[in-house]
Amino acid sequence: TWTTVNVVEEQVALIKEQVGDKRAICGLSGGVDSAVAAALVAKAIGDQLTCVYVDHGLMRKGETEQVEKDFVAATGVKLKVVDAEERFLTALAGVSDPETKRKIIGREFIRVFEQAQAEIIADEGPAVGFLVQGTLYPDVVESGGGTGTANIKSHHNVGGLPDDIEFELVEPLRKLFKDEVRMVGQELGLPEEIVQRQPFPGPGLGIRIVGEVTKERLDLLREADAIAREELTLAGLDREIWQCPVVLLADVRSVGVQGDGRTYGHPIVLRPVSSEDAMTADWSRLPYEVLAKISTRITNEVPDVNRVVLDCTSKPPGTIEWE
Ligand code: XMP
Repeated sequence: TWTTVNVVEEQVALIKEQVGDKRAICGLSGGVDSAVAAALVAKAIGDQLTCVYVDHGLMRKGETEQVEKDFVAATGVKLKVVDAEERFLTALAGVSDPETKRKIIGREFIRVFEQAQAEIIADEGPAVGFLVQGTLYPDVVESGGGTGTANIKSHHNVGGLPDDIEFELVEPLRKLFKDEVRMVGQELGLPEEIVQRQPFPGPGLGIRIVGEVTKERLDLLREADAIAREELTLAGLDREIWQCPVVLLADVRSVGVQGDGRTYGHPIVLRPVSSEDAMTADWSRLPYEVLAKISTRITNEVPDVNRVVLDCTSKPPGTIEWE
């Protein structure tokens, strides 16, 4: 029978067997999946684990600080934070194609982990052979089962991985769905703020800019996203919606009128969805007042944005993210 206690016991035993007395690093993204994977592995191998948080510059407002504070407080694991913004933005310069972006981001993650591993070895001695990832069952399915050919899109931690990877992967959540991962997280004693967090993709805002990813565009999107999140939280809708991607259509412009005259700016798309497991989703019927508030604030407060549109497409036919 499936119980969280059984899952934890079984995975802890498997991880112990796989890693032995070697060491592992775990890529932490701030999301539920990597947090639960890290907590499971920490339970199995204790301080043979070091968590690595890569700040790729594609995170939302305040996210890095939150990981540094909350996760360490909750688990006591060793955390290494790597500032890799310049590296990722340089690698993404000039790229608009979604799958190319995903592959670049997946590759750069691994290169940063390899570098982090070298530093950890230099600081603490013996080799690190294992990379822990919070890959879930739906990630595997939608990436084509790790066969290298994406069915739908290459999740950064499955189809987006480079071929010449130096690590052996540890993926204790590979058979689980999100709701199960949340239950396992609870069983492991992780706090509500982590366990109930809405999903956020590893490639971050990099796949929420339709067009080339630049620092200026990321800053715009970060502002718009922060406003949407703040208003959704104020309206008490966090538990009701599964997640609400906020997307910048950087390659689209439309005419508007703001302040003294004509503007020629970009649209922001709100994509609130409800879902059980992200494999299918329905668009959330948010209250008009909440949509109105978000729209007014974004167009008033975010420069270069003169329109807010609502994505009322289910999955299928749309995916949750736009890329
Ligand atoms: P889609 O866009 O495929 O998204 O309908 C399904 C769920 O997965 C998240 N997502 C990702 N998560 N790495 C992740 O960790 C990725 O590369 C990735 N791509 C999409 C998405 O936010 C949604 O919850």
